[in-house]
Amino acid sequence: MKVLIIGGGGREHAIAWKVAKSPLVDKIYCAPGNAGIASDAECVPIGAMEFDALADFALEKKIDLTVVGMDDPLCAGIVDVFEEKGLRIFGPRKNAAIIEGSKAFSKDLMKKYGIPTAQYETFDDPLKALEYLETAKMPIVLKADGLALGKGVLICKDAQEAKAGVRQIMEDKKFGSAGDKTVIEQFMTGREVSVLCFCDGKDIVPMTSAQDHKRAGDGDTGLNTGGMGTFSPSPFYTKEIDAWCMDHIYKPTVAAMNAEGRTFKGILFVGLMLTDDGPKVLEYNARFGDPETQVVLPRMKTDLVEMFEACIDGTLAQKKLEFEDNAAVCVVLASDGYPVSYEKGFAISGFDRFHDDEGYYCFHAGTKFADGQIVTNGGRVLGVTAKGADLKAARANAYKAAEWIDFKNKYMRHDIGKAIDEA
Ligand code: GLY
Repeated sequence: MKVLIIGGGGREHAIAWKVAKSPLVDKIYCAPGNAGIASDAECVPIGAMEFDALADFALEKKIDLTVVGMDDPLCAGIVDVFEEKGLRIFGPRKNAAIIEGSKAFSKDLMKKYGIPTAQYETFDDPLKALEYLETAKMPIVLKADGLALGKGVLICKDAQEAKAGVRQIMEDKKFGSAGDKTVIEQFMTGREVSVLCFCDGKDIVPMTSAQDHKRAGDGDTGLNTGGMGTFSPSPFYTKEIDAWCMDHIYKPTVAAMNAEGRTFKGILFVGLMLTDDGPKVLEYNARFGDPETQVVLPRMKTDLVEMFEACIDGTLAQKKLEFEDNAAVCVVLASDGYPVSYEKGFAISGFDRFHDDEGYYCFHAGTKFADGQIVTNGGRVLGVTAKGADLKAARANAYKAAEWIDFKNKYMRHDIGKAIDEA
């Protein structure tokens, strides 16, 4: 079969790599792709938001299955456009992708259906939000309602910081129209865990767990980023917690979406906080996580394309999802200055030492070809993933492999997976 993948980051590279392993697949295209994806797929220069051009391409090439990696096209309704044209596509429709596209929607959903999450209030008037902050308990979390490249969440230690945050989001429109509404949420403490789940509209099947590191600097300091590294599995997410989440979070979320007439098919990414009062939902996303995917898929034994097909066909209950009994760590190599400002266009070397049969992967995020070489082309440049028998071994391997790569202004965190020392 012919598969089209939409997106061009590290997550889409990991998806393309895994799709390429499927014996069901003869040919992969990726729009727009990047320099690393080009080794697994033919990259086509069509943007992820150019729905008509993408659908025309899928029709012309007789694509059997399209897979959407990114949130923006899902929330804007790419699945609906493809389905109207009779094209087979993996991902939630627009009316279900709202679970990621609107934080106010997802919080109201959880409240209505008793799914555990932090207490919150939603505001569309900045003056009312500022008034609320006069007496609110600190620290507090501000969330721009809409999509903001993963950067629309501000954790504020006191009222002064929170008021400045409300002004940035709602008055200065730092995240554009995503800040027309703001959710102000109680701050939760505990271990964060990401669980990506396959959903076919009736059943939900969680993958192995992972943990992201969102802040730019070591020790969780600095600005929020798209993610600086991940490890899988999380030693804090036990079998008992998984079973509890299935009954109290995953199945109730699928049922809630159905009850609202918003059947969810695709990847439901549940961001959890394991608090002293039990697991609570931090956020939902309507797609694979980035860089969670870069540690989850290398450990997946099951054919990913078969899982996509089962989600579309509503046959997930018949599938057995299996993972290797090992661990993986991904260290993101970024351009120094990310996420604020950084230079691009520097030659990258060291790719030849990565061999997936030895458990080393170099997933490209911001790269492109220029003058016959691969050069940096973004804030997050590469995701270096390594497997190991356990998390400590995987972390040692990932940091060893991170040194194989060289480019000017290379920046990485040095404590990805350090939390596992406390497990
Ligand atoms: N790693 C967080 C996300 O994909 O949203």
